[in-house]
Amino acid sequence: MRKIIKNGTIVTATDTFKAEILIENEKIKAVGTDLPSEGAEVIDANGCYVFPGGIDPHTHLEMPFGGTVTKDDFETGTIAAAFGGTTTIIDFCLTDKGKPLKDAIKTWHAKSKDKAVIDYSFHLMISEINENVLKEIPKVIEEDGITSFKVFMAYKNVFQADDETLFHTLVTAKEHGALVMVHAENGDVIDYLCKKVLEEGKTDPIYHALTRPPEVEGEATGRACMLTGLANARLYVVHVSCAQAVGKIIEARNNGIQVYGETCPQYLLLDQSALEKPDFEGAKYVWSPPLREKWHQDVLWNALKNDQLQTLGSDQCSFDFKGQKDLGKGDFTKIPNGGPFIEDRVSVLFSEGVKKGRITLNQFVDIVSTKNAKLFGLFPQKGTIAAGSDADLVIFDPNARRTISAKTHHMAVDYNAFEGMEITGEPISVLSRGEFVIRDKKLVAEPGRGRYLKRAKFSQEIEAPKQVVTK
Ligand code: URP
Ligand code: ZN
Ligand code: ZN
Repeated sequence: MRKIIKNGTIVTATDTFKAEILIENEKIKAVGTDLPSEGAEVIDANGCYVFPGGIDPHTHLEMPFGGTVTKDDFETGTIAAAFGGTTTIIDFCLTDKGKPLKDAIKTWHAKSKDKAVIDYSFHLMISEINENVLKEIPKVIEEDGITSFKVFMAYKNVFQADDETLFHTLVTAKEHGALVMVHAENGDVIDYLCKKVLEEGKTDPIYHALTRPPEVEGEATGRACMLTGLANARLYVVHVSCAQAVGKIIEARNNGIQVYGETCPQYLLLDQSALEKPDFEGAKYVWSPPLREKWHQDVLWNALKNDQLQTLGSDQCSFDFKGQKDLGKGDFTKIPNGGPFIEDRVSVLFSEGVKKGRITLNQFVDIVSTKNAKLFGLFPQKGTIAAGSDADLVIFDPNARRTISAKTHHMAVDYNAFEGMEITGEPISVLSRGEFVIRDKKLVAEPGRGRYLKRAKFSQEIEAPKQVVTK
């Protein structure tokens, strides 16, 4: 199988240039001009950018949560991701206390089997450390290629782990070359605040935000950074939503602590007032951390621009408004937490970030793809356009205009949190390992073609922090 992409402008995390891309047997064979194209299918990318497929480091597909299960599974979720220009996802595999980690991994393989249209991998949740877990962690890394572990500092009595567990996970992950990810909110304080407002009869969606103020995210982020410094480990803070958390990450990085931060499109573009929409519509915007006052958005954009936050995850965790979100009518704590962003993650960052001059085109590629590949052990197989890399490519029209809507999106969920937003830039065709998944805006791939990716250990050579300051 040979293909050649001609006339496009190639964009990587570092360069923008006109060249052809020759694809042979799933891989990029060559990038250059006047490449030998005998027997190759010619793909014309005139007027388009060609960039490496997006890598979404944060999804929850078919995940049991909040008394229900997320609406998008590995089929609908990866189809929507592909339409949006994402060719790899890393989903969170939940574990059960007292049960082998390997059981959870088996469950996640069963969910994803024969479903995905793009490649995928798993992070693994750690909620307890004991002898069995300590024995399993190196096996999971070596045998399953799972090199990132997630610890929740919130969701008391559900997922929340204590500081001893977080610290022990950091120490263990460092020893074995893995990266620890945290959901950083102070779950104990949130639990107290929730009980208090419910006693006062305050049950509307807006109280979700008011009981999870930015201070509790800032505090937990700072605590996780401090523990990472003590353990001399590495940390990735998921879904950073506010100035307080960004401040802690900057402080830690300036002190030489190896901390990385992810934000999500919802925090860059939506604000807390959405939770006050009438007729319970505010529930559509309930996820954790919650949306913040609008001024936090500038802080997040600046942090992305200045490499204080490195990546954009979707935190795809979709629940229907009707039939799922409404479990929380009369009690905001029962609204399943999460929203649908897997499809629009790449396009909204391009439209609101590049087109509006907040970040450069090359930063955009770094944030949606390259940096994720580097941090999560997929580079240079994924995340770049270079000879030898997988031919995961997006042919993107930077001038196409469209309006985001649940009527036209490909996610299974019954609403879109960006409904009515007009954006510029759209994936036209998307290739995964040299095969079209989306061709001229139509799905052309079969579920099940996506492959599970074993990932490499964290590599200091590939990803060294730029801001290390010696004391
Ligand atoms: O509300 C959210 N973010 N739901 C997904 C689970 C998590 O905390 O990432
Ligand atoms: Zn979370
Ligand atoms: Zn999440």
